[in-house]
Amino acid sequence: MGKKVGANVTYAVIVVLLSIVLVLGPTVADATGSAVKLTVAEMANLRFIREEEKLARDIYNVLGEMWGLKIFIKIAESEQRHTDAVRLVIEKYGVSDPAKATPPAVFVDKRLQELYLVLLSEGKASSLEALKVGALTEEKDISDINRAVGQTNRPDLLELYAYLKDGSSVHLRGFMAQIRAAGGDYSPQFISQEEFDVAMRGSK
Ligand SMILES: [Fe+2]
Repeated sequence: MGKKVGANVTYAVIVVLLSIVLVLGPTVADATGSAVKLTVAEMANLRFIREEEKLARDIYNVLGEMWGLKIFIKIAESEQRHTDAVRLVIEKYGVSDPAKATPPAVFVDKRLQELYLVLLSEGKASSLEALKVGALTEEKDISDINRAVGQTNRPDLLELYAYLKDGSSVHLRGFMAQIRAAGGDYSPQFISQEEFDVAMRGSK
């Protein structure tokens, strides 16, 4: 009887442990087999950038529809790939995903929710202002990616950020070309003129 109870308890403990592993999902292990833990800053940056790439997708889809500008729709597709790339890393490390179930135009991070509304209001003014919203979004992305790069030394995170930054530079050039073709111009507000010039030249 005692042995049977003991066996049942052991079985129950194994079931609970297996359930925990299944709930937590795949985790990354280091060379000693211990689960790798990201720093608080690394997790916060991943969560923020996951939503920031979603913000770009959402605002471009709305502005593209509003002004009939194909550049927005095309770049929104690229932003979908960017936010998906961040999601994969978030899942890899078992970080909670702020964009898991939020619809377009809704953000867990209050700063991004506020930014979205400001950009929408600016982009409604004219098609040129909408294109400037595109340039602003991209250079802000570069600025936030730079911060994230400065707070990690993990090769996989650095690779992710290099990919996103390269994409932002390409998008920035696309928006700037259309702003200038429309007779307008745009000066960086989040990154230095030097970094802006580097992005415009296409160097990483
Ligand atoms: Fe972008």
